[in-house]
Amino acid sequence: HTMEQNSTVSNTLEVDGALLPTPSRELWEKICNFQARPDDLILATYPKSGMTWTQEILDMIQNDGDVAKCQRATSTDRHPFLEVVFPYKRKPDLEIALEMPSPRMLKTHLQSHLVPPSVWKQNCKIIYVARNAKDCLVSFYHFSRMISLLPDPQSFDKFCEKFMSGEVLYGSWYDHVKGWWAAKYQHRILYLFYEDMKKNPKREIHKMLEFLEKTLSEDVINKIVHHTSFEVMKENPMANQTAVPSNIYNHTISPFMRKGMPGDWKYHFTVAMNEKFDEHYKKKMAGTTLTFCTEI
Ligand code: A3P
Repeated sequence: HTMEQNSTVSNTLEVDGALLPTPSRELWEKICNFQARPDDLILATYPKSGMTWTQEILDMIQNDGDVAKCQRATSTDRHPFLEVVFPYKRKPDLEIALEMPSPRMLKTHLQSHLVPPSVWKQNCKIIYVARNAKDCLVSFYHFSRMISLLPDPQSFDKFCEKFMSGEVLYGSWYDHVKGWWAAKYQHRILYLFYEDMKKNPKREIHKMLEFLEKTLSEDVINKIVHHTSFEVMKENPMANQTAVPSNIYNHTISPFMRKGMPGDWKYHFTVAMNEKFDEHYKKKMAGTTLTFCTEI
């Protein structure tokens, strides 16, 4: 891959044109050489597409709906993030992952072509969650306002332009969702949609159970639906990200658990921006069988 250290955004590295939150070339090499294990479960998403939510569902599934066990630590501490270095943690998550006993669940925002090769070699199960571009953009915009590690988005219109051109952390949304969509024809990937999870969480949980080759009683599944609803997670200090130091996440600017509602983009896009976005979207998504629902 082509790599260059980016000076405009601190703590980022540009790999194949996508900005990654990697602090050093050395760590990036370690990520590339990461040794996956066959029983690793990988949760992959583009930023702001429902990772925290899906993580909570998967943790509940793995712990047979035991809420207390899922409250053993915060979302950021429960499952390591392959490529993210949290400045307030003692060591990179990658190193934490290396010391973890199996079976591990690992999170990543990397595009499919940047995932460590051993993940493919070991044929790890991967759950990918995609969210429609407009809501994802809105969520990313508000997140960029509240997190001190990312450049201030300035205005919504400016952020739209950056999102469309892929000049945001982790690069182009279009390439991300399309790349993973293509990868699922060759690998063990369960490709899910945020909007489907919102519309019918039970049905999507059943898909996850089948993929993980696990069965749970209807009672436990109902408990998982309840515990991972937006309203309950918003009040759960182990899931709502309020434990992240306030100099990094400023929830008073915009809470991490913000709206959790498909279609919220309608309150942000002007008619002009929407037209421009749609036209650009059509070009970027031409020729793919991947379709999204933008409201429920
Ligand atoms: P909004 O900003 O639109 O509210 P990620 O975890 O990938 O960073 O995604 C964050 C987005 O998922 C935020 O979207 C957040 O509110 C939403 N989210 C988190 N938990 C959720 C849940 N249980 N149900 C629905 N949306 C949820």
